[in-house]
Amino acid sequence: MNSPVLQGLGTGAPAYVKHARLIAWVADMVALCKPAAVVWCDGSQEEYDRLCRQLVDAGTFRKLDEAKRPGSFLAWSDPSDVARVEDRTYICSEKKEDAGPTNNWMAPADMRATLQPLFDGCMAGRTMYVVPFSMGPLGSHIAHIGVELTDSAYVVVNQKLMTRMGKAVYDVLGDDGDFVPCMHTVGAPLAAGQKDTTSWPCNPKVKYIVHYPETREIWSYGSGYGGNALLGKKCLALRIASTMGRDQGWLAEHMLILGVTNPAGKKYHVAAAFPSACGKTNFSMLVPPAGFEGWKVTTIGDDIAWIKPHADGKMYAINPEAGYFGVAPGTNTLTNPNCMASLDKNVIFTNVALTDDGDVWWEGMEKDQGKLPEHLIDWQGKDWTPEIAKATGAKAAHPNARFTVAATNNPALDAQWDDPNGVAIDAFIFGGRRSTTVPLVTEARSWMEGVYMAATMGSETTAAAFGAQGVVRRDPFAMLPFCGYNMSDYFQHWLDMEHKLEEMGHTLPKIFCVNWFRKDEAGKFVWPGYGENMRVLKWMIDRIEGQATGEETLFGVAPAYGELNWTGLAFSAEQFKTVTTIDKAAWIEELKLHTAHFEQLAYHLPQELVETKSALEQRLAELA
Ligand code: GTP
Ligand code: SPV
Ligand code: MN
Repeated sequence: MNSPVLQGLGTGAPAYVKHARLIAWVADMVALCKPAAVVWCDGSQEEYDRLCRQLVDAGTFRKLDEAKRPGSFLAWSDPSDVARVEDRTYICSEKKEDAGPTNNWMAPADMRATLQPLFDGCMAGRTMYVVPFSMGPLGSHIAHIGVELTDSAYVVVNQKLMTRMGKAVYDVLGDDGDFVPCMHTVGAPLAAGQKDTTSWPCNPKVKYIVHYPETREIWSYGSGYGGNALLGKKCLALRIASTMGRDQGWLAEHMLILGVTNPAGKKYHVAAAFPSACGKTNFSMLVPPAGFEGWKVTTIGDDIAWIKPHADGKMYAINPEAGYFGVAPGTNTLTNPNCMASLDKNVIFTNVALTDDGDVWWEGMEKDQGKLPEHLIDWQGKDWTPEIAKATGAKAAHPNARFTVAATNNPALDAQWDDPNGVAIDAFIFGGRRSTTVPLVTEARSWMEGVYMAATMGSETTAAAFGAQGVVRRDPFAMLPFCGYNMSDYFQHWLDMEHKLEEMGHTLPKIFCVNWFRKDEAGKFVWPGYGENMRVLKWMIDRIEGQATGEETLFGVAPAYGELNWTGLAFSAEQFKTVTTIDKAAWIEELKLHTAHFEQLAYHLPQELVETKSALEQRLAELA
């Protein structure tokens, strides 16, 4: 790391930065944000350790017990800054129709005029860090580079774990390479002599997460949390990248990527889109249960996939990220043992609870420990006991508490996770969180039908986004908060892929639809989920191999009870019915929601989707 330079003395760019446009941009941003110092990050371990120490000194980080959780830290955020803020997230394309009805929009000139006074002097009294990162393996033809300017050391250390961050990025950039400029400030300038009164500076009142898709810029103001602040993730790798993909003929998706190897050693690759906090990390690290000896699941990515059609007629996917920013609550050795093993060391925890012996705790861990802890400090720094929890319902960890960890910590990491060419996708899966209506699994009979199912997917909202929870909303392709352009144009882009790939003489990946989240009248999940999802995954592979006939349903092909391997799980045909039945009345209501959804998306909505809906309504009407 280079010595901080004072404002007025230039940017102090190190000699290895040879990119004049980048240096000029940093100089402009220094003039605008007026930081007290500028630090060019090199991504070294020494720099990481130093910033972590600095965060401990500032009270943002608490070092966890070195024996119990080596190299790990705990941060508690401001209670106003705990999740993505969808109502403060904007797509500022020149034309409103290009952002579409599902995105907040403001004309770029108006947004620039709004942000200018906010960014003017926004880093006063703070250090501006220059953070170069690659989304995707360094130098991969599928990868893209971003440079984030931030006044948050917490963001820098998270970016070190989440991306390929540091000096080597400048070698790829050279003196004129393309990069996405990513401006980030916590929006809490300090007056001369003023000190922070909080360990999580942010702006509790004003937040803006802004994207200019045409000029490929990101401007984020007021939040230090997750996708609001780690700008390589949702902002670059989904919102900006989806517009790049539209223009260049590829896909940027909210998908995990996994490898699944059968006992004969044959390997398949699956990409699955589930909305936020709906099971991607879990599925990507799945441990096959009893009855699946010899099967292996390996993780390529847990949240984002960049997928490109290749000249050989296959779709190749990379994970642009290098780490996981995952949901802590609910994670334990029963639900996700690989994830728990990933969290043994070198982790940044945010908004989980602190134990009396300097370790971490969150709801769900009691399943491993056999009992609740007697005492904790909760994520807001308050005393927590089982009695208090019982009386007040207080959660020890915030429901959107997260861990940040390098992918290399994952014992199930796929050998090809860092392959610059990616892996060839055999199947896509789409799945929402639905207590009712949507069955366990169906397979689309055509690409068109698969796109329809993905485009009309509904899901109950979760704590991953600020706002009401448990409300069913349409979340097409699990991309509602992440598509950087008009949703209907995005559907068309997916439909166009079929023709593009067919011209190359390709068998298209199969498309499946799943729902792990059906509940009974008592509100209990009826499907055991987690590792048991392997039973469904295996059926999908059987379908790819032509070894399962399935049964025709309203929405495509579904497994007969006897087609799933039930070894090691007591799950009767009767229970199977509770997760697979199709309730006609519920689906009549559901289709009304599809209609309303399509009315909202009428501009540029592909006619084939409307026709697919009519055909579905027809089949539903004919259903006994
Ligand atoms: P983001 O990081 O927000 O994109 O979330 P994600 O899609 O990676 O979700 P994750 O795997 O972290 O799971 C979120 C929550 O859903 C956790 O509390 C899990 O315990 C729970 N969950 C995951 N898989 C299953 C499942 O198969 N069944 C049930 N019932 N719950 C699940
Ligand atoms: C999500 O909300 O889908 C996440 C977490 O993966 S965040 O990085 O905050 O967007
Ligand atoms: Mn996500």
